[in-house]
Amino acid sequence: MTNNFDYSNKNVFVAGGTSGINLGIAHAFAKAGANVAVLSRNPEKVDNAIAELSKHGNQSIGFAADVREVGAIEAAFKTAHEKFADFDVLISGAAGNFPAKALGMSANAFKAVVDIDLMGTYHVLRSAFPYLKKPGASIINISAPQAYIPMEYQMHACAAKAGVDMITRVGALEWGPQGVRVNSVTPGPIEGTEGMARLAPTDEAMEAVLDGLPLGRMGTLDDVANCCLWLCSPMASYITGIVIPVDGGRSLGGGSGIGARFESKSD
Ligand code: NAP
Ligand code: COA
Repeated sequence: MTNNFDYSNKNVFVAGGTSGINLGIAHAFAKAGANVAVLSRNPEKVDNAIAELSKHGNQSIGFAADVREVGAIEAAFKTAHEKFADFDVLISGAAGNFPAKALGMSANAFKAVVDIDLMGTYHVLRSAFPYLKKPGASIINISAPQAYIPMEYQMHACAAKAGVDMITRVGALEWGPQGVRVNSVTPGPIEGTEGMARLAPTDEAMEAVLDGLPLGRMGTLDDVANCCLWLCSPMASYITGIVIPVDGGRSLGGGSGIGARFESKSD
């Protein structure tokens, strides 16, 4: 029987793949047999990620570069292609975020997040495109609920990630004819990540997050990685241009907490 989730002899590039959710995705593809390249700014994080990923027994390479610098990103993809050949999968997930009121941050702070998340995504996709397998490659942009749920203290990230989802949709239109699929995967609150440490730093904030989750638990690195393995597989070969929340139902906008309150009143 064919194993649709066997990525042996496939090449995967994960931009921002040296920690958290994106490193979890890199691990999942490496474990499934793929050669994996990762990229981020911090050379130490890059080296550590390569060392960990190599343990799965396939080739792992890495690049220290900033997604805001298009020349450096182009150079990284050129070298990665020389080492691996065409890429079957591109994950673009580099991002920066911090909570700050719209008027409580400098224009440069707003720009920093837009430059990393939105411009960075564009730089990664345009630099990778010449080296993607055509037909057959699958691109996933790692988005965030901020793309469609307005959140206080998040004007910068909301604007940037909404743009990322539009890159997904327009990319799907322009590159579909060449057999390249483009989708967004939107993690909900994922346990143990830098993103959650920044956005829900107290027990009280974490409780409020849990209250809004119909499935009643935080997500895991595997929850997001499994969706990516499926989305890049032949099982999803007719899916392009969509935004998939992997969020325990958070984006439904209800509150499982509200139902619980009605129940206690009617007892
Ligand atoms: P993380 O561990 O901080 O991951 C961010 C990654 O991007 C790191 O590898 C970081 O490495 C790299 N990076 C940051 N700025 C960069 C730049 N300018 N150029 C190149 N690489 C850069 O955070 P995370 O929480 O796992 O988030 C990962 C992704 O999931 C992000 O796209 C985020 O928006 C999304 N997300 C997270 C959550 C959550 O619950 N955590 C929820 C929704 C969406 P360096 O520092 O070495 O550059
Ligand atoms: N509140 C308000 N402004 C902030 C801020 C905060 N918490 N953190 C940074 N800034 C401002 C800085 O003061 C600076 O503005 P200024 O030049 O007017 O003083 C601007 O943002 C850029 O900061 P800087 O530290 O120079 O940028 P950087 O490029 O080194 O780092 C960040 C980018 C700020 C996004 C940094 O948090 C980062 O590297 N994040 C990556 C990891 C991450 O965010 N993970 C979670 C992903 S969801």
